[in-house]
Amino acid sequence: MPKQTYITTPIYYVNGKPHAGHALTMLVCDIEKRYHGMLGHDTVFLTGTDENALKVLEAAQEAGEDPQAFVDRISQTFVEVARQLGIEYDIFYRTTSPQHFTAVQRLFQVLRDNGYVYLDKYEGWYDVSAETFVREAELVDGKSPDGNEVRWVSEENYFFKLSAFGDRLLAHADANPEFWLPVGRAAEVRSFIQQGLRDLCISRANPGWGVPVPGDDSKVIYVWFDALINYLAATGWPEPGWEDLWPADVHWMAKEIFTRFHATTWPAMLMAAGVPLPKTIIAHGWFTFNDAKMSKSKGNVVTVADLLTWFGEIGCSPEMARDAVRFALARVLPYDGDANFGREEIARHFNADLANDLGNALNRTINMVQKFCGGVVPTGTVDPEVVSAAQECQAKAEGFFATHELHKALDSGLEIIRFLNRYIQEKAPWTLAKNEDASLNDVIVSMLYCLRVAEGLLRPFVPSACDALLAQLGYGNTDATTEWAIATDPARLNHGKPVQDPSPLFPRIDLKAMNSETPTSEPTPVAAPAPAPAEAARPTIEFPDFARIDLRVGRVLEAEAVENSEKLLKLQVLVGEERRQVIAGIKQSYEPDELIGRQVILVMNLKPRKMAGLESQGMILAADGPDGKAILLTPEAEAPEGTSVH
Ligand code: MSP
Repeated sequence: MPKQTYITTPIYYVNGKPHAGHALTMLVCDIEKRYHGMLGHDTVFLTGTDENALKVLEAAQEAGEDPQAFVDRISQTFVEVARQLGIEYDIFYRTTSPQHFTAVQRLFQVLRDNGYVYLDKYEGWYDVSAETFVREAELVDGKSPDGNEVRWVSEENYFFKLSAFGDRLLAHADANPEFWLPVGRAAEVRSFIQQGLRDLCISRANPGWGVPVPGDDSKVIYVWFDALINYLAATGWPEPGWEDLWPADVHWMAKEIFTRFHATTWPAMLMAAGVPLPKTIIAHGWFTFNDAKMSKSKGNVVTVADLLTWFGEIGCSPEMARDAVRFALARVLPYDGDANFGREEIARHFNADLANDLGNALNRTINMVQKFCGGVVPTGTVDPEVVSAAQECQAKAEGFFATHELHKALDSGLEIIRFLNRYIQEKAPWTLAKNEDASLNDVIVSMLYCLRVAEGLLRPFVPSACDALLAQLGYGNTDATTEWAIATDPARLNHGKPVQDPSPLFPRIDLKAMNSETPTSEPTPVAAPAPAPAEAARPTIEFPDFARIDLRVGRVLEAEAVENSEKLLKLQVLVGEERRQVIAGIKQSYEPDELIGRQVILVMNLKPRKMAGLESQGMILAADGPDGKAILLTPEAEAPEGTSVH
């Protein structure tokens, strides 16, 4: 049997109910699974729940419920969210299953047999909320670096020799550039490993909940060690057949559990067990509200149910509401940085892309078929220029699927719609009709073709909207594009068949009347100064004056627009081991995404200053372009981050 494609979300803690952040990772995997399906790959998608954590036990106790009954109940809320969003997972994995206990104990034993597990005393702090061990030196005002309460732990425990794997992990990543993604986060993992990995405590005193250490019931296996094994255990490991699925092709998660757990501990555990490593471990950023991670404890969560109700209220049918939520999540996917996830952002994208661009293109096309062609798809030839535009969108989408930049793959699908609207404007079919121009039918079939292409390219993201679009074009429900390769084939038009009456797929959201329940955004920042006009030469300075400026090579790890500012971008720049936040007035010159991973020159010792309410801890160098746009300075060849510039 050929190896199946295997993609996973994290398994979610069941101490609370899911919100849109949890749903996001389910959705990215669902989109990838649907895309793989269109490529003809046999794909298995795993999601599930992480149930053996101490915080889960404590949540059950607080709720006054039997822990198993509690996890059974909360686990179902994740199943429900998947159902609400049309998530087609294959495995819903739960760590309280007997299969899981057996596999975890087995892997623990393998690592012990291989000499990577030893007994020692653990003295230090434990953060129950993040389920992590915290060193004294890491405490900030008596709390964990995440701001959580910590408890003192003094126990004899088992340790995993994580320290033995740093070099091997780096070597593996060097040989496999797609191992850690995105590139900016890979740089963080490297620097984390280069600081030296410490052995990891992998057991805790048994609180009566969790997977007992084999042969030592006084302890349970540390929940992260237990949870990570889910991905392998779900394949049936070590029973025959597990290699049909393993190694995993993609482990998706958000950034907070990337570096330390998924990118480092997990592959080191696999190396220690002699099991092949996953192909790609990839983290997206967070949905935030005003720079705070969406989280239950901060009270700033939006649930999928909230969004479905909202789209229902503005007039979407249940299927279209579901696709509207899928679209909202995927459109603002925080790939490199974080993304503010408020109603306003959602409504803006929804109106622009779905209600306006897609809605207008469909409506105008069908109206013209009715008016100029008697409501029937005419015979004609698709304009070769239109076919190449469609093929270009498809190729772009393919490229973005390969790098897992799904928000951009989605945009490439929408691009054919934007093209179509421009094409209609340019060709003015109403004038062709008036002049009885022989090219009218070719233009109309070219328009229909663009919609047919969009149906294929957008299908992994919004499958129900694609079905509805197809129905309006007069196709049956077995005509859906199930093969990616034929999505831009011009031979698939329904010549001679009637189209339906046009009806809007998505309503328009009235932004003014909209009830914006999400926290308000930052106050309007003061505009940054406009680029300076060509300057006169400045007075001569002595070399020591120049030498006072500390210039260094940095690498942009994250870049995002500053809310409500026309000019500013917020960058996170890595310089040596340090990370600097830089607010740069280059929004009109660069898209945030094109900056990520790029090297820049940073003025390090410029006094920090506030811009748009955000601290800027340096300045990046740019030349004033002739059109007033900034041209960033980049070293001619890659230089290690932190290198001095003279
Ligand atoms: N149980 C661990 C994971 C173990 S995997 C072996 C865990 N669970 S969690 O319930 O806290 O889920 C964290 C994951 O949920 C994130 O990594 C991400 O996939 C998703 N998200 C939760 N909140 C999110 C946002 N605000 N934004 C984006 N993703 C979010 O950690």
